[in-house]
Amino acid sequence: MDPAVSVAEIERAVEVLRAGGLVAFPTETVYGLGADASHTDAVNRIFTVKGRPADHPLIVHIGDPTDLDEWAVDVPEIAYRFAREFWPGPLTLILRRSERVVDAVTGGRDTVGVRVPAHPVALEMLRRFGGGVAAPSANRFGRVSPTTAEHVRVDLGGDVDFVLDGGPCTVGVESTIVDLSVAEPEVLRPGGVGIERLSTVAGHPIGRWTGGREVTAPGTLPSHYAPEVSVEVVGHDEIAARTTALVGAGLRVGILAPDVVSDLCDDVVCLAPAGDPQNYARVLYQRLREADASSLDVLLVVPPEPTGIGAAVRDRLVRAAGKVRRNT
Ligand code: TXA
Ligand code: MG
Repeated sequence: MDPAVSVAEIERAVEVLRAGGLVAFPTETVYGLGADASHTDAVNRIFTVKGRPADHPLIVHIGDPTDLDEWAVDVPEIAYRFAREFWPGPLTLILRRSERVVDAVTGGRDTVGVRVPAHPVALEMLRRFGGGVAAPSANRFGRVSPTTAEHVRVDLGGDVDFVLDGGPCTVGVESTIVDLSVAEPEVLRPGGVGIERLSTVAGHPIGRWTGGREVTAPGTLPSHYAPEVSVEVVGHDEIAARTTALVGAGLRVGILAPDVVSDLCDDVVCLAPAGDPQNYARVLYQRLREADASSLDVLLVVPPEPTGIGAAVRDRLVRAAGKVRRNT
């Protein structure tokens, strides 16, 4: 377990959950805003605090993969295979819900998202609690997800009853969500587990949901994960010309790229290079917050290669750019 978090703090978190309170806790992906998944009032409070519409379902976090059958029914063999391979870890399975799942968690749907997170503090909390913890990312609806306890405090302030500080998240983007409630498994949201690895374990290619059937989920809305700043996604080859045009138009420009673009950094705010896809994911939300703090007009971003976790980073950047308030 994280040496910075005491057993007493984890016990306190468990007490708060048992009393129907809200606990922000670290996971390997992003911080979660947790409530007892079986306590309807507590779950409803998550929606109030986040400002999230009631029909956007929550993920149930459990401490032990073998508890899966308590939360889901008609579980296909592939779900157990994924659980064995990737849990604890950044993968959420969508399955048919059991009777244990309260309506507030799923917005009345007949499916439920379940995940065993890999952060030692989260696991210890979940194991001591014993039940399921319903948790979205611990940010206000539509905003950038938190990857440190400080981000949570800034975003949610006194609206959360207790914050467990387990240090910065190591993965940095949310879990991959794979829908196993349908005949052909589909990835609804790319995340910490690359789609290529899912396909390898499945023994056949897993597709990505492209809007063919209705799935309403906040992570699939175009303007989700948006910072305040206007984000523009550009290729490595375009960045010099685009920077010149924007700076020429009198705008305050920032750049986020995998590598150093030092020849441009005299005229613009160069955020620290994001590095390889793994590192890019780890620092992404922190950099978007830094961009907001720098009062930029436009943030130009060069995404990583779209393989493995790079696909998740690219997805979040494109969604952040969906909110562009273009002034040129
Ligand atoms: O990494 C993560 O998944 C983080 C940490 C805290 O575990 N959680 C997270 O939760 O990102 P949230 O609520 O911000 O995003 C969960 C996504 C939403 O897009 C939600 O609509 C979708 O999961 N989801 C949950 N249950 C679902 C269901 N039954 N069917 C379809 N989508 C579902
Ligand atoms: Mg979220």
